[in-house]
Amino acid sequence: MKRAAVIGWPIEHSRSPLIHGYWLRQYGIDGSYIKQAVRPEEVAGFLRSLEAQGLAGCNVTVPHKETAYAIADERDASARAVQAANTLWLEGGKLHAANTDTYGFMTYLDHVVPDWKAHDGPVAILGAGGAARAVVHGFLEAGVEEVRVFNRTRSRAEQLAEAFGPRVKAFDWNVRSDGSREACVLVNTTAAGLKGAGSLGMDFAGFNADCVVADIVYVPLETELLAGAKAHDLRIVDGLGMLLHQAVPGFEKWFGQRPQVTPELRALLVADIEGQKC
Ligand code: ATR
Repeated sequence: MKRAAVIGWPIEHSRSPLIHGYWLRQYGIDGSYIKQAVRPEEVAGFLRSLEAQGLAGCNVTVPHKETAYAIADERDASARAVQAANTLWLEGGKLHAANTDTYGFMTYLDHVVPDWKAHDGPVAILGAGGAARAVVHGFLEAGVEEVRVFNRTRSRAEQLAEAFGPRVKAFDWNVRSDGSREACVLVNTTAAGLKGAGSLGMDFAGFNADCVVADIVYVPLETELLAGAKAHDLRIVDGLGMLLHQAVPGFEKWFGQRPQVTPELRALLVADIEGQKC
């Protein structure tokens, strides 16, 4: 039996077992995927003993993503760009690390808005943390010429711009609406919008009518940002698709089957989100 897990501290909130459990049943694979709480001081030991524990690999969530990146033997391009890893597996006796958030976000954007074009204008990003880095990396790889990063703490936006080079520009938080009007895609990567975590205060008046507005927050599924964009007839991309698609590469590595993100799987997650309201 093949085994994988998701580790974090805390971990109770993780919806990854729901996703991987669905695929294991769907494909009739003799495997298991569990969640396990691992304290920060125990992460390195846990990851170094995957084989001894009978694990093919694992997902890593907050606050262990940077440690996982640091101790891996091999890292993919997205993990290097983000300096953090969420997916680990053993291959040829080595610990491999990937950051599949970039893949998850870009795949779902392409799925929902297949006609978005990297050359249609700048991309606007709200936030400058790890999630922002994953998304910025995706747009740069897609060939976007200008990425504008708006962050409450401007110095973090500047650090991010410096790390990614001249196509990325840092802006003050208070110009996030004016500075995004000509954008072809706007993405919220901050926790604001998450139930009870405050408002982003975006003003969509005068936005490019073709702008796509995406949120990586998926609780609630329709965030205040997405509701505001919809009210201005802008196309929207919810955060749940990124969660579902980021899980695909890990499942394939551990269980040897490339899984599909189906409407049925999405419905399962929507029901869970709406049922728990947390
Ligand atoms: P993650 O790795 O999930 O992106 P993070 O590194 O803690 O998490 O980054 C969180 C981001 O959300 C930061 O850009 C943060 O802004 P600061 O750099 O100013 O802290 C942003 N953020 C969190 N809460 C916010 C809020 N209420 N309004 C605006 N930005 C917020």
